[in-house]
Amino acid sequence: MKVLAILYKGGDAAKEEPRLLGTVENKLNLREYLESQGHEYIVSDSKEGPDSDFQKHIVDAEILITTPFHPGYLTADLFEKAKNLKLCVTAGVGSDHIDLNAAVKKGVQVLEVSGSNVVSVAEHVVMSILLLVRNFVPAHEMIERGDWQVSDIARNAFDLEGKVVGTIGAGRIGYRVLQRLVPFDCKELLYYDYAPLPEAAARAINARRVQDLEDFVSQCDVVTVNCPLHEGTRGLVNADLLKHFKKGAWLVNTARGAICDKDAVAEALKSGQLSGYSGDVWNVQPAPKDHVWRTAKNPLGGGNGMVPHYSGTTLDAQARYAGGTRSIIENYLTNKPQDAGNIIVGLGKYETKAYGQR
Ligand code: NAI
Repeated sequence: MKVLAILYKGGDAAKEEPRLLGTVENKLNLREYLESQGHEYIVSDSKEGPDSDFQKHIVDAEILITTPFHPGYLTADLFEKAKNLKLCVTAGVGSDHIDLNAAVKKGVQVLEVSGSNVVSVAEHVVMSILLLVRNFVPAHEMIERGDWQVSDIARNAFDLEGKVVGTIGAGRIGYRVLQRLVPFDCKELLYYDYAPLPEAAARAINARRVQDLEDFVSQCDVVTVNCPLHEGTRGLVNADLLKHFKKGAWLVNTARGAICDKDAVAEALKSGQLSGYSGDVWNVQPAPKDHVWRTAKNPLGGGNGMVPHYSGTTLDAQARYAGGTRSIIENYLTNKPQDAGNIIVGLGKYETKAYGQR
């Protein structure tokens, strides 16, 4: 049996740091196990175009392992070529790089290591909210430049206390973000999600649900995006919706780049409709060198907290998603039932409601 993994190249860092498991070099720690079972394990970062290893090996692979950090895009066309494919495993959380409707049609199962990096991301979101609200990045850059002009920073620095923070999507990550904000004494914690939180969970953090998206964003000082990318969320935060944001709101997106309209966000930042945009996810990954989100700024020259896609790939997270990937594959190879929370697409149907109300 052929198992194909598309991972990112770790270079020297991966040689020096063996805990960088999600790399081509360290292979999610699966090589010995798979080869000892007599399987062929192909690992590569080459994923674009007809000559890529991805397209070459997808033709006869039975299991495909991918990560959202260096996504191998499994399109409906590629599904047609993947004659042996039975199982796609996302080493991490977020399987939008797989055409899930095609997986349903083709009877290919799609599993994630649910929960493996949700704390990692929630911590990053809290950090990103603070660094935008407190105007941290320009303050640090000023120090590196050798300058010292406190008023240039303080003119756009605020406290998080007393602000309204809302999450689009209140699942594992969105809920953990709100939970972690409780001690900051925000004015209110809001959420927008078609699935209401269980009453006790909402009460525990005093979160209020707002059912209309425009109404929701108009009440928030900070909006954080924590829903999966699917037909219903692609381009959800666009020029029209941004008009309904409070003037000068902060927006944090660690969910998926394509949930926010690239140019509309850059324009809103430039005009000051947004005071800041921060996150680690991009509509194409790796992001091109001239991607507007790399350098977009607010009118005062700050408000950009963008980083490469790494919030969910801390070393702690890598240990969890590598271990979870192995469990999924072991279950598959030994015909054991999978953990229900990991199944996105089961045999011929969606098993989760998180990728759109189905
Ligand atoms: P989850 O499945 O626990 O929660 C997702 C929530 O979003 C659900 O409550 C669902 O009802 C809601 N939702 C779906 N469509 C919606 C819509 N149209 N409007 C409002 N809410 C909607 O997923 P989890 O673990 O919280 O992860 C969420 C997403 O975060 C992942 O799908 C992935 O895209 C992203 N992620 C990013 C990482 C990173 O490194 N930046 C790492 C892990 C996840």
